[in-house]
Amino acid sequence: MHHSIFESAEARGIFKDERFLYPEYIPEKLPFRESQIAEIAGSLKPLLRNGKPQNLFIFGPSGTGKTVTARYVLRELEEYASKVKGIYINCFEFHTRNAVLNKLCLALGNAVPRRGLASDEIYNEFVHALKVKNVAPIVVLDEADQLIRDKTASQLLYDLLRITELHSIHLGIMLISNIRDTLAMLDDRVRSSLSALTIEFNQYTPEQLKQILHERARNAFFEDAIEKDVINLAAAQAAKCSGDARIAIESLLAAGRIAEKEGAKKLSVVHLKKAFERIKPRALEKASPHLDSCEKEILKIMCEHEKIFSGELYKAYCSRCKQAISERSFRDKINRLAELNILSVRGATAEIRGRTREIMLAQPKEAIIELLKGD
Ligand SMILES: Nc1ncnc2c1ncn2[C@@H]1O[C@H](COP(=O)(O)OP(=O)(O)OP(=O)(O)O)[C@@H](O)[C@H]1O
Ligand SMILES: [Mg+2]
Repeated sequence: MHHSIFESAEARGIFKDERFLYPEYIPEKLPFRESQIAEIAGSLKPLLRNGKPQNLFIFGPSGTGKTVTARYVLRELEEYASKVKGIYINCFEFHTRNAVLNKLCLALGNAVPRRGLASDEIYNEFVHALKVKNVAPIVVLDEADQLIRDKTASQLLYDLLRITELHSIHLGIMLISNIRDTLAMLDDRVRSSLSALTIEFNQYTPEQLKQILHERARNAFFEDAIEKDVINLAAAQAAKCSGDARIAIESLLAAGRIAEKEGAKKLSVVHLKKAFERIKPRALEKASPHLDSCEKEILKIMCEHEKIFSGELYKAYCSRCKQAISERSFRDKINRLAELNILSVRGATAEIRGRTREIMLAQPKEAIIELLKGD
């Protein structure tokens, strides 16, 4: 008798429906984000009565649900009011005024030739399309720091602000970033007319991560196809990566696939550990192209210590570097690495003498060693 190669794949496996673990999946509920959802929804609500929405700046570490929450609110709002049009732009991909304006036009169904049009012309196209279609747009600029590094960013935001002023089209702007002081890089004038309300996304606690994962896993896996400790271990790994829920969700998906490939009846912690090896923490992935040699040296030293006082860390650093930087600039480096969620700092932040600050890695040591390989 002939057996199809897909026959075993059809048999009951580990996954009930793996789509619940996909990065683009937007859950029906987002536990522990109720207050942020309410705040975002409240800020955009004026659009529903043709009013002016409150612009927003959302920040927080990787995997704290910024993107999924923004998309969740947009989805709800679009369903509720057909006039509202959420336009989501990932600034990793589109990080100049020209590229963003192009993307905005495309989102309204106007294809702009990729070359040849000046930004001002694309801007006019966009405004024209908004008028013709009579939509209430909300522009989400995710990973906004990628855009704001570019010198055309202030002009782009100025363009968007001008649409409300000149054409009485109420356009909402939502900027999302990992970095708290992202907006400081903008022109003063643009920043002040943006007057964005700041919403912080704090790290999930290990207990919250567990609940989030249980919920996602309940839909994705057959109940008896997953070993008892798997979710707890995934949550613990996420907690180690400064509360990054993505690490846990991606790992569960990868682990389920490994288990199915091996023909296992149950997803076990062994599968999950194999998955961990494949998945890089996002905070590291994003930061790695921007780390300088001093910051890398600091991380190398940190891989040799569980925790260390900042004064000792500075001494260790000086003993290794011929041209060491000043203690003050060193403190700035530490602060930057903390802002990127690679290090965590405990103790006085304003203390001048280094002694009182205790420094630890905020990401798994193995992942940092991997990142530093070849340096
Ligand atoms: N409260 C929650 N409930 C269910 N899933 C969540 C929740 N928070 C985050 N997630 C999931 O965790 C993953 C990471 O979330 P998200 O992509 O929104 O993080 P982020 O804050 O945008 O991170 P980054 O700064 O790296 O872009 C996604 O798969 C998302 O669906
Ligand atoms: Mg995101």
